[in-house]
Amino acid sequence: MKKFAAPLLLMMISLLVFVMVSFLLNSRNGIEASADSNNIDHVRFKVTDEQPYRTSYHFQPPQNWMNDPNAPMYYKGVYHFFYQHNPYAATFGDKIIWAHSVSSDLINWIHLNNALEPSEPYDINSCWSGSATILPGEKPVILYTGIDHNKHQVQNLATPKNLSDPFLREWTKHPQNPLITPPNEVEEDEFRDPTTAWHGKDGKWRVIIGAQKGNKGKAILYQSEDFVNWTVSPKPFFATDNTRVIECPDFFPVSINSTNGVDTSVENSSVRHVLKISYQSKQHDYYFLGKYVSDKENFVPDEKFTGTSKDLRFDYGKFYASKSFFDYAKNRRILWGWVNESDTTQDDIEKGWAGLQTIPRKVWLDKSGNRLMQWPIEEVENLRGSKISITGKKLEGGSTLEVSGITASQADVEVLFELPDLESGELLEDPSEVDPQLLCSKPYASRNGQIGPFGLLALASKDLTEQTAVFFQIYKTPNRYLCLMCSDHSRSSLRQDLDKTTYGTFFDIDPNLKEISLRSLIDKSIIESFGDEGRASITSRVYPLLAIKRDAHLYVFNNGSQSVIISKLNAWSLKQAEIGLEGSIRCA
Ligand SMILES: *[C@@H]1O[C@H](CO)[C@@H](O)[C@H](O)[C@H]1NC(C)=O
Ligand SMILES: *[C@@H]1O[C@H](CO)[C@@H](O)[C@H](O)[C@H]1NC(C)=O
Ligand SMILES: *[C@@H]1O[C@H](CO)[C@@H](O)[C@H](O)[C@H]1NC(C)=O
Ligand SMILES: *[C@@H]1O[C@H](CO)[C@@H](O)[C@H](O)[C@H]1NC(C)=O
Ligand SMILES: *[C@@H]1O[C@H](CO)[C@@H](O)[C@H](O)[C@H]1NC(C)=O
Ligand SMILES: *[C@@H]1O[C@H](CO)[C@@H](O)[C@H](O)[C@H]1NC(C)=O
Repeated sequence: MKKFAAPLLLMMISLLVFVMVSFLLNSRNGIEASADSNNIDHVRFKVTDEQPYRTSYHFQPPQNWMNDPNAPMYYKGVYHFFYQHNPYAATFGDKIIWAHSVSSDLINWIHLNNALEPSEPYDINSCWSGSATILPGEKPVILYTGIDHNKHQVQNLATPKNLSDPFLREWTKHPQNPLITPPNEVEEDEFRDPTTAWHGKDGKWRVIIGAQKGNKGKAILYQSEDFVNWTVSPKPFFATDNTRVIECPDFFPVSINSTNGVDTSVENSSVRHVLKISYQSKQHDYYFLGKYVSDKENFVPDEKFTGTSKDLRFDYGKFYASKSFFDYAKNRRILWGWVNESDTTQDDIEKGWAGLQTIPRKVWLDKSGNRLMQWPIEEVENLRGSKISITGKKLEGGSTLEVSGITASQADVEVLFELPDLESGELLEDPSEVDPQLLCSKPYASRNGQIGPFGLLALASKDLTEQTAVFFQIYKTPNRYLCLMCSDHSRSSLRQDLDKTTYGTFFDIDPNLKEISLRSLIDKSIIESFGDEGRASITSRVYPLLAIKRDAHLYVFNNGSQSVIISKLNAWSLKQAEIGLEGSIRCA
């Protein structure tokens, strides 16, 4: 097995080459930083030497379009990540391929050659999403959706050409492809995204595939003994009315009494099951906790899908087509999600790229048993550089405090707020009548409450004309306490031509809660925020004109009438991750 440790000199040379290549690739683009804020409607991309929105430690291809994460896995010491990619443009296209990258830590990445490209009648119009399963004898395989010559969606198998290559660079399409064609009860062009397979007690493999019939969304179950000959189950594994197509289903067990992950095939009294669905009509990833009834081959969720803000989501901001895998190296389940752009298609063409992946997140079941928790993987902490700390600082209502001394455009911030008595929170008689996203979008003037809003102003300009407020507000209801978590984009940029939808959610808090935490990972044009130790998360894309590079600032604020105390704040500048082509980052 090769080690990843790179000799310093080689690395420096290759980094230099990479920087020069990036410079050449990017030099057309970038934004005029000294924009006149009175005249911003006319500000478009101008020729500068740098792209202020290209991220520094989030996964991105060298250029062009990226969407769904595919087949993440850990195999013989190497993490593999595949993704939907249009190698020809910064927009979606009709020849989508599987790009492939490898890593030893899920943060620094080496881009390899494409793993799957359209080549056969069964995938000639694109290789769409799919998943990896590791078969007995440590044999990884991929099931993916091919768009065939009739534009029907079919499921295909691919296997590594050389199992001794730890990078699994080359993949062979199975001679019997397509293995699965659309069954009767499914539309031929809405049948895609096979999950990781799980192994039942009867020795058979099972996968589910997203589908649509009429207005119904369906997850169709297939079984196989040999992974090649698949038999459709007569009844859908799961179905919802009036949702239209189910995309990228993900089905996995979670431990009921541990934060560790478990293998996808585990089924016993120590686990519950999670079904995640990406509803294209909603553009969000919803998850259901529930019971896998293996003798009936279906899934019974604890709560039905309502199509309202009550449904549980992995993330209440931009986050779609996510996929998890069991990382047996560290006994954890890891979740990836695609984060798209909020600027215009024309902007993407000029930037030369579109689409990010979140920092991989560890996911586990909360002690309450009724929601999942998420936290950025610990490896991201290796990027931490200079650090600023604040402790025991009272924030009166109406105050703002700058967190200076770090690179605010590329940072990791964790704050612990000490709360006043929760009884002083405002009363919400009937929270089921209130849409949290609308509550978060209230005009600033009518927003000041009792306990909160308090939180962070990220990617803010010095004069605060640009700011992304990520904050909490505490409410009491007749029988419980609620926290509202928001990410407000109305002031995120002086530019007008952006999607500035404000995001928000409610979550229950413990009546005895004394402190609440907020963590944000800030990286140029993305902010990933985690409330109350990971009980809720919101991912934002923002494109400030002023708050870029050294002109980006970070503040803590409190606009509630009650004061809150910063019991502890730690903020770090984050280093750039090493993400480059094979050959530019060398492995000795
Ligand atoms: C398979 O990979 C190993 C390790 O990289 C290499 O030594 C070997 O030559 C490869 N075999 C073939 C047939 O390419
Ligand atoms: C495929 O599996 C089904 C169900 O196990 C079986 O009836 C059928 O004979 C198999 N077909 C082939 C070609 O092996
Ligand atoms: C369930 O399976 C997991 C993983 O194999 C194991 O750690 C756990 O002890 C099992 N629990 C029971 C009750 O068998
Ligand atoms: C978790 O719960 C299961 C079933 O109740 C039990 O068998 C197992 O020992 C528990 N594990 C731990 C680490 O508490
Ligand atoms: C991508 O972004 C656009 C604009 O912000 C939004 O309307 C759309 O729903 C997003 N799509 C996904 C899959 O997130
Ligand atoms: C805080 O309150 C002040 C005064 O009303 C207002 O100008 C400011 O926009 C508010 N900030 C946030 C983030 O709510």
